[in-house]
Amino acid sequence: MSHIRPGFSSRLGFILAAAGSAVGVGNIWGFPTQAAQNGGGAFLLVYLVMVVVLAYPMLIAELTIGRLSQKNPVASLRALGETRLMQRTGVVIGVAGITVLSLILSFYAILSGWLLSFMLAPITQALGWSQLTHWLENFSLSRNLIMMAVFMLLTMHVVYRGVSAGIERWSKRLMPLLFVLLIAMAGYILTQPGAMQGLKLYLIPDFSQVLQPSLLVSAMGQAFFSLSIGVCALMLYGSYLSPQENLPRTAAMVAGLDTSVAFLAGLLILPAMFVAQANGVTIYQADGSLQSSDTLVFTVLPAMFNSMGQSGVLLAVGFFALMLIAALTSSISMLEAPVNTLNEETGCSRHKAVWLIGSLVSMVSALVIYHFDTLFGLVVKATTVYAQPLLALLFGVMLTWVLRQNRLLKALQSGSENIEHTWFWRIWPSYVKFVCPLLILLVFFYQ
Ligand code: PHE
Repeated sequence: MSHIRPGFSSRLGFILAAAGSAVGVGNIWGFPTQAAQNGGGAFLLVYLVMVVVLAYPMLIAELTIGRLSQKNPVASLRALGETRLMQRTGVVIGVAGITVLSLILSFYAILSGWLLSFMLAPITQALGWSQLTHWLENFSLSRNLIMMAVFMLLTMHVVYRGVSAGIERWSKRLMPLLFVLLIAMAGYILTQPGAMQGLKLYLIPDFSQVLQPSLLVSAMGQAFFSLSIGVCALMLYGSYLSPQENLPRTAAMVAGLDTSVAFLAGLLILPAMFVAQANGVTIYQADGSLQSSDTLVFTVLPAMFNSMGQSGVLLAVGFFALMLIAALTSSISMLEAPVNTLNEETGCSRHKAVWLIGSLVSMVSALVIYHFDTLFGLVVKATTVYAQPLLALLFGVMLTWVLRQNRLLKALQSGSENIEHTWFWRIWPSYVKFVCPLLILLVFFYQ
């Protein structure tokens, strides 16, 4: 079967697609929720350190693996080894990465279904359809199932069509809008009573909490989740990246964009929590833990929009629509990797692969919805907190231990010819080879 491999037309195209994968529910839901759960400022500080010290170097590693072979993630990891054993190991790691990625999609679709609900609710409310509004806004089996299915179908549709110029063009226009809207909303919330308490909690770290084991592990997982690392999604995007691009610089742009959005989301949500509390919404339980942390953001944001009167309705629809698009550019990258792999490795048509994997993931998702209380948190934690850092570690090991050094140098020279004379080449390979695995294991054992 002939296969035409599309590539990103420009560096901007790649950065947008990769940033599209990175910016998503993780930034607006995951990061602020985790920060609120783990002492605010202390979490922010450790998170930033994790991004710089671990996630960014490993992002470069993952992109390098993809671009080196310009094939699907399983083939890319296989190509790093020279012996049969190492090639097989590569295949196993690749399959594990893709499996975890599909599991991430299964809970991601549930969360994104909520975004869809909260985008529609202000509209149905304005139309006076109170029953439908109630259904959209409240947690129920039927709402979760239907909205998840709609979101999955949307994702499958886009992936089936190919990550077309359309979605690239959309992201280009809409992502800056999301940025502006976040800043404006944070600006608004900071003028409301109660906000300063949240701002202080967010920006002033309580250093006694910084070294708490659970905080370290959560911050590490969140950094890997938010940058989409360790699960082959960006490895695949790396395989589409032109050889003329400078990898470390491109990766820095992606990491910078993603981290800025997460930071802004925290600047909005944490103060908004306290504003909501001042308005009578229960946020913290008597023991100081968060009231229903999974749905926190979906309580706090609508409460804020409600307090804004008429303009709040418009803002709510606009905000959740933008978030939905951000979620979609992430979910596309999650489905694209297994579909591309199945297609290239088995020759199964793209169409069939989309249906096959899409239905499988939807079934797992339905299972999680049926057993929400037991499964949701478990799947989130197992995939993002444990699997992502461990798989990223294995990718790094494959690249720096298994691949021969001269091939690694060649891979990095493409796009920056003089790299062997730079600090980057002197530090980064041994850093990924020794320091990153050690740090990741240390965080786990420390816990
Ligand atoms: N980084 C995405 C987010 O923050 C989630 C994601 C994880 C996307 C893993 C792809 C792979 O929402």
